[in-house]
Amino acid sequence: MKPREIIAFSKILWNRLRIRTLGRGLRTQYGIVFPDFCLRAALSCRKFQKFRSSPVYQRVLEHVTKEHGEEYLKEIAKNSELLGQMEAFKRNDLYGGPPLSYYSGIGWVSPTTLRYVKVLADLTNFFGTLDGLKICEIGVGYGGQCRVINARFNPSSYLLIDLKPVLMLAQRYLDSYVLSSTTRYRTMNELESSKSDLVISNYAFSELPREIQEVYMRKVLLKSARGYLTVNDLAPPDFRSYKREELLETIPGSRAIAEIPSMDSRNYVLIWGE
Ligand SMILES: C[S@@+](CC[C@H](N)C(=O)[O-])C[C@H]1O[C@@H](n2cnc3c(N)ncnc32)[C@H](O)[C@@H]1O
Repeated sequence: MKPREIIAFSKILWNRLRIRTLGRGLRTQYGIVFPDFCLRAALSCRKFQKFRSSPVYQRVLEHVTKEHGEEYLKEIAKNSELLGQMEAFKRNDLYGGPPLSYYSGIGWVSPTTLRYVKVLADLTNFFGTLDGLKICEIGVGYGGQCRVINARFNPSSYLLIDLKPVLMLAQRYLDSYVLSSTTRYRTMNELESSKSDLVISNYAFSELPREIQEVYMRKVLLKSARGYLTVNDLAPPDFRSYKREELLETIPGSRAIAEIPSMDSRNYVLIWGE
């Protein structure tokens, strides 16, 4: 073996050992590769410019296809006011270098941004104005949903809950914009139990192990007057994550509705407080 090959091989071995050792803590779907990537993208200008195009990032987020984007757009088009504000929503794609798709009538946009606008359309249908609300989001990605909501409404505050490295990237992204909400960033253990007007969690709360879900149930979901959760079925059985019936029983006044467009036949949206 040449010296260069020995160095490369040792680096691979070292990284495997490091990942195994670090991975022994509280188990989630995300391991350490995704948070580690977010940390580096938060701290490096070069990585921040294109994190939304990275395969590591796209495995978790920013993977909505052009075709699904088309379906989200059809739903958004039912709300002519939101459709008219598309230029403001498209500003979400100024940072992070996402892959863009072309849609007739609105031009180039990230299909993931269209998903965030579709969620906003649902929120306005169910809850009316979001002006003045205290909003809390669990599992925020880079903060795209927060930015889309702030492009249309003036919530009084927006609490973002996620893993620390993910929050660092979200803060770098969101601080690239002027937002009307006061933003706060918290991990599970930094979180105080406090009332909010609306909790949002899309493809996030449902992916967590029961142990973590119970913390959020107690500190956030049961304290929120309104809720909108897109629930998927990706958690492995040993996570013992809340099942649909348990969620409906535990959250007073909640009901399950179809996810439109449907990404998976097992997905649904849990809402309460309309
Ligand atoms: C599939 S992504 C969804 C992100 C965003 N809601 C969206 O729709 O684009 C899942 C999110 O859950 C976050 N997450 C993972 N473990 C978490 C934890 N313990 N507490 C809160 N969020 C967590 C991930 O970091 C990621 O931001």
